Amino acid sequence: MEILSQSRRKFITTLTLLLTSGGLLARFLTPRMNVRRRVLASAPAADVPPGGALLFRAERVALMRDDSGLYALSLICTHLGCTVVVTEDALSCPCHGSRFDRQGNVLSGPADRGLERLKVEIRGERVEVLG
Ligand code: FES
Repeated sequence: MEILSQSRRKFITTLTLLLTSGGLLARFLTPRMNVRRRVLASAPAADVPPGGALLFRAERVALMRDDSGLYALSLICTHLGCTVVVTEDALSCPCHGSRFDRQGNVLSGPADRGLERLKVEIRGERVEVLG
């Protein structure tokens, strides 16, 4: 009878450990569904000039428009984090001279990664940049 009791206890302990670790593993591996992005910048879509950019200096965000529509770039240089300057045909970093095209791709280093492209949502007549 005692052998049966020990066996049952061992089974229940093992089952409890498996369920607990399985639950923790599932929670760790499952992406969070309610990740809410915050609005970094917002403006009337009509304020973004064709072929131009609307800058949000404090947020270090550029809202750009080209033939394919609206998009947003982070103005944080991927080299060491300086704020990138937007010119008519490119974006350039004043710190070490990295240059990026208007899509945020690297034209010249030392930055080796393009600028981060931020999510844009159109809400009525306004456009929001989400971070
Ligand atoms: S921080 Fe921009 S090039 Fe170095």
